[in-house]
Amino acid sequence: MDIRLEKWSFAFAKPIAEGAKDARVSRFLRDSFPYPYTEEDALAFIRFACAESARGDYYRAIVVDGTAAGAVAVTRGKDVFQKSGELGYWLSPAYWGRGVMTAAVRAACADVFAGTDIVRIYAEPFAVNTASCKVLEKCGFAREGVKQKSVYKRGKFFDSVMYALIKGSGYEDRSGQ
Ligand SMILES: CC(C)(COP(=O)(O)OP(=O)(O)OC[C@H]1O[C@@H](n2cnc3c(N)ncnc32)[C@H](O)[C@@H]1OP(=O)(O)O)[C@@H](O)C(=O)NCCC(=O)NCCS
Repeated sequence: MDIRLEKWSFAFAKPIAEGAKDARVSRFLRDSFPYPYTEEDALAFIRFACAESARGDYYRAIVVDGTAAGAVAVTRGKDVFQKSGELGYWLSPAYWGRGVMTAAVRAACADVFAGTDIVRIYAEPFAVNTASCKVLEKCGFAREGVKQKSVYKRGKFFDSVMYALIKGSGYEDRSGQ
């Protein structure tokens, strides 16, 4: 399997919309991720990702064997959080369970630490999102704590878990686990 992180192109809109329209993708994401998801939504996201990339944030398509299969981004914090970046990601269900996101998150974090002055990359999955928590743990993120009832999504409360990876913490040594 060939997994690459590529800069966004409008050519990715169709396969991205195809994957994103599956309700299992948006269920544990922020409400700003549309549902139902159309090709127009994908085009709007790609326009946004290109503009934000031009301003210095990290937005990449996850391309598996030549087909756009998902997204990964690290966005810089503001003010005193300017050296921290928030990690977000999703993958088309057709590709789940084969280590694609673990590879994508490792590559994205390595790129961000090598190419920017960000020293902390964090993610905050819903506590029930076991697959996402597992991805972060496999990538060497530390589980920092649980934020009870921090999320309200589609009429229900969820806990979220704060995970972080610190530059120079030896995550490279753990990448094979
Ligand atoms: C979360 C997500 C990105 C995982 O992508 P993926 O490519 O399937 O992840 P990987 O295959 O690299 O790793 C998933 C791990 O979780 C495990 N896993 C999956 N579902 C699980 C479950 N219900 N319970 C326990 N473990 C589970 C897998 O077995 C695998 O671990 P392993 O390698 O030790 O076997 C994907 O499911 C997704 O896009 N979900 C919807 C969007 C989302 O939730 N994004 C994250 C927001 S924080």
